[in-house]
Amino acid sequence: YMEDRIINTSNGLPDTNSSQTADSSVLKVWGGRTIDGHVTISGAKNSALVLMAGALLCSGHCRICNVPSLADVSRMGEVLSALGMRLERNGNIIDIDASEITTSKAPYELVTQLRASFFAIGPLLARLGEAQMPLPGGCAIGARPVDLHVRGLQAMGAEVQIEHGICNARVPDGSGRLKGAKIYLDLPSVGATETLMMAATLADGETVIENAAQEPEVVDLANFCISMGAQIQGAGTSKIVIQGVAQLHSTDYNVIPDRIEAGTFLIAGAITRSELVLSPVMPEHLMPVIAKLGEIGVPVIEEGSNCLRIKPAEVLKATDINTMPHPGFPTDMQAPFMSLLALAEGDSIINEKVFENRLRHASELNRLGADIRVKGNSAFIKGVSAFSGAPVEGTDLRAAAAMVVAGLAASGETTIRGLNYLDRGYDRLDLKLQQLGAKIERVEDTEADALNLGAENSATPSNGSASVSG
Ligand code: EPZ
Repeated sequence: YMEDRIINTSNGLPDTNSSQTADSSVLKVWGGRTIDGHVTISGAKNSALVLMAGALLCSGHCRICNVPSLADVSRMGEVLSALGMRLERNGNIIDIDASEITTSKAPYELVTQLRASFFAIGPLLARLGEAQMPLPGGCAIGARPVDLHVRGLQAMGAEVQIEHGICNARVPDGSGRLKGAKIYLDLPSVGATETLMMAATLADGETVIENAAQEPEVVDLANFCISMGAQIQGAGTSKIVIQGVAQLHSTDYNVIPDRIEAGTFLIAGAITRSELVLSPVMPEHLMPVIAKLGEIGVPVIEEGSNCLRIKPAEVLKATDINTMPHPGFPTDMQAPFMSLLALAEGDSIINEKVFENRLRHASELNRLGADIRVKGNSAFIKGVSAFSGAPVEGTDLRAAAAMVVAGLAASGETTIRGLNYLDRGYDRLDLKLQQLGAKIERVEDTEADALNLGAENSATPSNGSASVSG
């Protein structure tokens, strides 16, 4: 699937999951069967993307290992190449040389396609004293504002004007360096914590971030920066203290395993009443998900330091979920978990407390026979005994994953559209499920072509999906 050695193309990393094929293909799942075996978990998407931006802080060569093969990683590579960085991918290793940053202006069309490219603003300001970053814009799950990023950078001395959709940030002449500052985040934003922590590594003086996000990916970024010589204490707690240094040196760093991919496979096992082994994982990163699976009667056992075994449950019991910042239940696991609760015995409630529009998969699950009512940011789920296959659509990255795991449990055939979302966030999910014995394949979207053909002859618009990643 990944050639051993892919030579760097002119526009950054080769696109191994080109969204073109994803847009025109669908997944077909024939469910109602168990799966079994061992699945290898890839590196964490939400760590790899920010580490790639963090490599901008280093005025030399960085090697990042265990990088997942995702469309979003390829896109981040394009953004960083456009800024003058040299990148080379070799399997799941990315070599980045940021000694020459040729511009502080990120390309508009690339940033609006990949929200995570906004992470470059902190490192660009820290390295060059200026950055022109297009605003990342909203996406399917919410408005996704960046006000906390901007206010924190202003507290560190940056002047920021937003005009024509571009965030123009600069350090006032003379000083040339950001200043350490005491920053309180109104809410524990993952992205804002990461932007400000990166900017602070090269600032003049001490920065304290209060009410910081505690996600494992924040800790991974801190450890990456520390491996380049940054001085950071408290990552993983709500108070992070950073002493600025003059510059950061090269490093060779391994991305942590993806806790959301691992959680998604746990749901795939639970929903098909299967026994699966997952590795590598960091069990402490999955504590909220493992605890909730235990509550509904699904045993998950730690085997050794980086391996989990999930065993089938006789009955899935209903429970309630509130998504919260870490160490609360992760919002990225909410959609796949809804698929599972839709098949539990009894009534469950899911309150989505992180994003304002992240329950759209409920109506798609109802097409499969679920009985879910959404009011505001709460989903009221009446467990049903079975799903029956139907055509469904993934409305965002994790909703698409929820459709896949639901299809594994549905009798008959389920067709899943929205692979442009799925391929941004999951590293060969269909192949890994096939290797576990699932009957799932990626096929050209003939129905959609037929629909589009129909559309060409009628006024109805085609169902082109403009997708922005999480
Ligand atoms: C990161 O997004 C992840 N993305 C998301 O994963 C994840 O869902 C989210 O953290 C929460 O865990 C990456 O790491 C690339 P936030 P981020 O800032 O940083 C509000 C996936 O599916 N907010 O913690 O954007 C915001 O609107 C994706 O892999 C502000 O109001 O999340 C949201 O309601 C989806 N102002 C809440 O905070 C700000 O300046 C949490 O957002 C920033 C955020």
